[in-house]
Amino acid sequence: MYALIPAAGSGTRLGAAEPKQYLPLAGEPMLVHSVRALLGCAELRSVTVVVRPGDTRAGQCLRADARLRIVDCGGATRAASVRAGLQRLLDAGARPRDWVLVHDAARCCVSVGAVRRLIEACEHDAVGGLLALPVADTLKRQRGDSRRVGATLSREGLWQAQTPQMFRIGLLLEGLQRSDALALTDESSVIESQGLQPLLVEGEPDNFKVTLPGDLRLAEALLLRRRAQPGRGGKP
Ligand code: C5P
Repeated sequence: MYALIPAAGSGTRLGAAEPKQYLPLAGEPMLVHSVRALLGCAELRSVTVVVRPGDTRAGQCLRADARLRIVDCGGATRAASVRAGLQRLLDAGARPRDWVLVHDAARCCVSVGAVRRLIEACEHDAVGGLLALPVADTLKRQRGDSRRVGATLSREGLWQAQTPQMFRIGLLLEGLQRSDALALTDESSVIESQGLQPLLVEGEPDNFKVTLPGDLRLAEALLLRRRAQPGRGGKP
């Protein structure tokens, strides 16, 4: 069982000068927190971080670990980065039947407990699955380009997808090799496009994706609280 962290994005929505995976959070780059959570799972044989070609920052900020690999084969989209990273895993000896947990660098508050819950729920499943949360808010669809409500949607049966998402390396790579797959924004969509139904495994609100400036402050507060209260999430 392997982990893959796509970390080749530019993070432009945060408006910072550097890619968001390197923004400091609680004294360390965001990526360091995400990698630490996955390395905390002894079930994972290795954790591979995919960065942009020529990006040397990850190598500088991540502490050497026998289970950590950094590959600079990131692509133009998240799916392209995942595809290139999966190919590297196979080239390095992983088998197509092996599981891979793909996790966003930008979900830096994921807990070891949530990752283990995903593994336990999926390791004997035929398809695999993802962490996700039932939608709690009332959903509105805007009317055209206006800031006016066009409709209220039912939240019945709706979930918000999170990561990690856990699938067989071969099946995922096969799906990503289709030309229309490179625009898909998560692994579950790739598996769904092959006619399969991934398992929904309850995630946690702390595992949000840092996207906007307010998310940075919230992530930092959570990480500092965990550091002050070890055993409440971040550590195994
Ligand atoms: O931009 P977004 O927040 O959706 O990115 C999700 C994850 O995918 C981030 O960890 C980001 O670094 C990664 N990504 C990537 N290659 C890209 C775009 C995004 O690895 N071309």
